This record gives sequence, C-alpha cells and structure tokens, in this order.
Amino acid sequence: MGKEPLVLGIAGSPRRGGNTDILLDEVLEGAASRGARVKKVILAGLKIASCDHSDACLKTGKCYIKDDMQSIYQDLEEADVIVLASPIQFMTVTAELKTMIDRCQAFWARKYVLNQPPLGEKERKGLFIAVGGTKFAKLFEPAQATIKALFNTLNVTPAGELLFRGVDEKGAIRQHPEALKQAFEAGQKLVEG
Ligand SMILES: Cc1cc2nc3c(=O)[nH]c(=O)nc-3n(C[C@H](O)[C@H](O)[C@H](O)COP(=O)(O)O)c2cc1C
Repeated sequence: MGKEPLVLGIAGSPRRGGNTDILLDEVLEGAASRGARVKKVILAGLKIASCDHSDACLKTGKCYIKDDMQSIYQDLEEADVIVLASPIQFMTVTAELKTMIDRCQAFWARKYVLNQPPLGEKERKGLFIAVGGTKFAKLFEPAQATIKALFNTLNVTPAGELLFRGVDEKGAIRQHPEALKQAFEAGQKLVEG
C-alpha cells in the first residue's frame, strides 16, 4: 500500500487564529479524519522575499533566494493536495500569500521555459479558502483569478472553493457552524476516492 495522501495547508492571513485559519484547520481535520497526512504552513512570520525577477530560475527551474520559501518549494512538491487560505485584503489575497505565489515563478519557468513538470509527475488537487468582511458581489473575483493562475501553473486540479462574505471580526466564522461543517466535509472529500 502506498503512503496516505499528504494535504498541505497554507495559511495566508497575518492574523493567527483568524477566520481563514479556523476554516483551514477544519479542512485539515476533515482530511486527517479520512487518514490523510496533513501539514500546515503559516506564512505570517516566515521570511519570504519578493520575487526580484532576476530570471535566474529560467535557466535552472529553481529560485536562488535562500529564505523560508525553500522549504515551501519542497512542501509543494511533496503534497498531494494543496489548500490555500487567505482573507480578502483590498480585493485580493494577502501580501503574504501573493509573495509566496510570485516566488512560484520558478515552477512557471520549469513548465513553460524548461518543459518540465512543475512539481513532478503526480496529480494534485487544490482547494481555495477565502473570507471577506464585506458582502460585495464581486468580492472574490480578483483572488480567484490569481489562484486559478497559480493552480494552472502548478498543474494542480481545482477541487473546490470555500468562500464566505460578511465575516469580519476575528473568530466570527465560529458563529457560522454550517461554514465550519462545509470546511470539514471539504477536507474529507479532498482525500476520498
Ligand atoms: C488590510 C485589510 C484589507 C481588507 N480588505 C478587505 C476588502 O477589500 N474586502 C473585504 O470584504 N474585506 C476586507 N478586509 C476584511 C477581512 O477580509 C476580514 O476581516 C476577514 O475576516 C479576515 O480574515 P482572517 O481572520 O482570516 O484574517 C480587509 C482587512 C484588512 C486588515
């Protein structure tokens, strides 16, 4: 029997224990309840420099900047499922998550310049979690476009989204038990079949 699937959860909020963090934990618990291995990476507090567009990765498929992103590259390669969680800030993902995404230019270089599979051959699924304080109709569209571009670059198959509007105060998502249930069940579904 092969190893149980590894679900990598990436927390993009600057607020630990906030709404997206809580939802991410539910997803990971749901996946773990179905026997998956889970790993959570909290971007806040990590040292991840911005992509400097040196173009070094166009030749090597790797980023030369030696910071905390190096272990995330490894995590992304090992994961079978990638779960990204971010509050909406000024209509898109947080600076923390966007900085990490921009550093995935090294995978873009592998795929589109070096004709290599960006994360290796295995198939991967991806889930996006987002929460916004307002109820603006188009609230999630810019973030969705960014996540779509990332998953496409990484050859990750989108396997759903958990998007909640009108949730602002820290921990307010707990007043929405149906959202927590949805997150737990999404985690279960990610590793089934
Ligand atoms: C800098 C900043 C920018 C924000 N921008 C938006 C926004 O554009 N639209 C929105 O609906 N909420 C916005 N919010 C509210 C957050 O999306 C909301 O509080 C969310 O619940 C935070 O999730 P978290 O607890 O996981 O950090 C913003 C909050 C901050 C701190």
